[in-house]
Amino acid sequence: MKTLVKGIHHITLCPGGAQEDVDFFTKVLAQRMVKQTVLMDGSIPIYHLYYGNADAQVGSIATSFPYSRKQGRAGSGQLAATSYTIPNGTAGFWKDHFDRHQMEHSGVQERFGRKYVRVKHPAGLLFEVMEEPADTRNAWTTKEVSKDVATHGFFGAVLSVRDVRDQEQFFIEALGFTKVGVDGPYHRFQAGDGVGNVIDLHHEPDRAPGSWGFGAGTAHHIALNLETDEAMAKQKAWYEELGFTDTSEIKDRFYFHSMYTRSPGGILVECTSNVPGGFYQDESPEELGTKLHLPPWYEDQREAIVSQLEPITVPEENRPKSGTTAVPAHVAAAKHDPVEESKIPLSRYKAKFGAEN
Ligand SMILES: [Fe+2]
Repeated sequence: MKTLVKGIHHITLCPGGAQEDVDFFTKVLAQRMVKQTVLMDGSIPIYHLYYGNADAQVGSIATSFPYSRKQGRAGSGQLAATSYTIPNGTAGFWKDHFDRHQMEHSGVQERFGRKYVRVKHPAGLLFEVMEEPADTRNAWTTKEVSKDVATHGFFGAVLSVRDVRDQEQFFIEALGFTKVGVDGPYHRFQAGDGVGNVIDLHHEPDRAPGSWGFGAGTAHHIALNLETDEAMAKQKAWYEELGFTDTSEIKDRFYFHSMYTRSPGGILVECTSNVPGGFYQDESPEELGTKLHLPPWYEDQREAIVSQLEPITVPEENRPKSGTTAVPAHVAAAKHDPVEESKIPLSRYKAKFGAEN
């Protein structure tokens, strides 16, 4: 099958406290906060925080649901690590940077001939910075992390599986990935060319399964970018033809559209299509990520939602200096009516916050 996947769209994780998460992403990983909104399912307000590179590009976006209500269990059948690209020769900088922040890390390691450092989020989530010389995406910088060392976007993700076979077949047959190599227990897959589209299956046959629901310290899903609604409809039909009949309906997530499938190894895999305006629909490039935004269908419940959320402070340096970020031309030119009908049927969930449920 010719792949419809253009790369990774976003990776979604469950940390614990919200401020702790903001501090880790913005100070330790030196990401730009791109969006503050809320989980669009369920009836209890949970933040949905987005972090990315300087241009808030699809393929650099980690999102988090700070979920201190319940602890998750890390294990197999889960996304085990989120990997970012860094310039060649900078793994040593990142090791020292993690030391300065007193973060637990692996030291400099090597996989498929590339140097990387793995670091642990305070909630237990794992991240990697992986040397990749070919990445020209616009890096976000901070006082401590300058342009010559900063992350550009995702390199990919590591998924832990007890058995490689069916998960491999899923990526190849259902999603059109190509297997590009094996390094010890790691099996590498790639969708198309370019950077930011690598999946490493980590074969861990004896590792107990991790939890599937929301829970602090665990990853929830990985999302792949299909770009268009037409590609989503094709992918849904293909999934169903292969027998993945539990593929969800296509949901309106306001900033993009989403469809979810539980993959054979246990990992929840989302496919997404982009909508005109993307993350810039409801705030200017200069203000991106600096305050809470709700989708229009939740605005009438703003007070009830905000009163149940932990207040957070975003570093002042999160505001871009003029000329340091760019809105992609096709995004800047597009006008989006958030309630307009899509060409394909969409599902939209609306909870009642603050009421007795
Ligand atoms: Fe998602």
